[in-house]
Amino acid sequence: MQTATTLEVLRKRVAELRQSGASIALVPTMGALHEGHLSLMREAKNSCDHVVASIFVNPTQFSPNEDLDSYPRQLVKDSEMLEAEGVALLWAPDTQQMYPDGFVSSISVRGVSEGFCGADRPGHFDGVATVVCKLFNQVQPDMAFFGEKDFQQLAVIRTMARDLDLTRPHVDSIIGVPTVREEDGLAMSSRNRYLSAKQREEAAMLSMQMREAIARIEDGQNVGRTLTALEDALLGAGFDRVDYADLADSITLEKLGELGDRPARLLVAARIGSTRLIDNMPVGQAA
Ligand code: PAF
Repeated sequence: MQTATTLEVLRKRVAELRQSGASIALVPTMGALHEGHLSLMREAKNSCDHVVASIFVNPTQFSPNEDLDSYPRQLVKDSEMLEAEGVALLWAPDTQQMYPDGFVSSISVRGVSEGFCGADRPGHFDGVATVVCKLFNQVQPDMAFFGEKDFQQLAVIRTMARDLDLTRPHVDSIIGVPTVREEDGLAMSSRNRYLSAKQREEAAMLSMQMREAIARIEDGQNVGRTLTALEDALLGAGFDRVDYADLADSITLEKLGELGDRPARLLVAARIGSTRLIDNMPVGQAA
């Protein structure tokens, strides 16, 4: 695996990979890789000739109250993991490469960015959209892969690609990869490492209670009452706060009061101590 830390080297390496019309997949990450990220690399490898992975801890998607400095960084370990997955090129720019002095632009994807995690993290999705648009332009991949775990992020990126007429990748080539889960159902996340043993046990209730709520909604039970029961069940199971538990349209993320014939998703964010966990699952036949 080769590593590029400057745009000049990246462009050279990407051009070499492109020789004879080979296709390129991009998997953007912020590092601290786990099995969930590796599943993205594998999906990417199954779909394209070469995989380019990026590792960049993007400062513009952190709010002032979120600690950018304590975000886990483990570039050597991550590089070894990517190499073992057959990734061809690692793009690991520093902040100056990504945001040179004088950088002032920002992409804002209204609507889809605004509720759910966007309500709690002002400016977060502007930071994500801007850096992902830059990564797309830098690498110009045929396809790009993101985890469904961050479902709102995926919706924001797809909306941006559609609205800005991006072609590399085209919106239809932005692929959401299903969430990888621990044996007890907890969605894999770099945040799980902050849970104590007791909190880790309680965290498993999130996906279990979500599945139960989905079964009830699919069975025709009242959506509002089911979501309230879900929140109560999570608080009873040891969660300290539920930021949201909503049924939403899978594309626009508009909240739904009932399950119709459009693809729908149950989205939840809940806190145990100071750790905020998010999860989402498809609901209904159309999902
Ligand atoms: O999901 C992430 O790791 C980040 O939000 C992303 C997409 C790499 C942008 O910084």
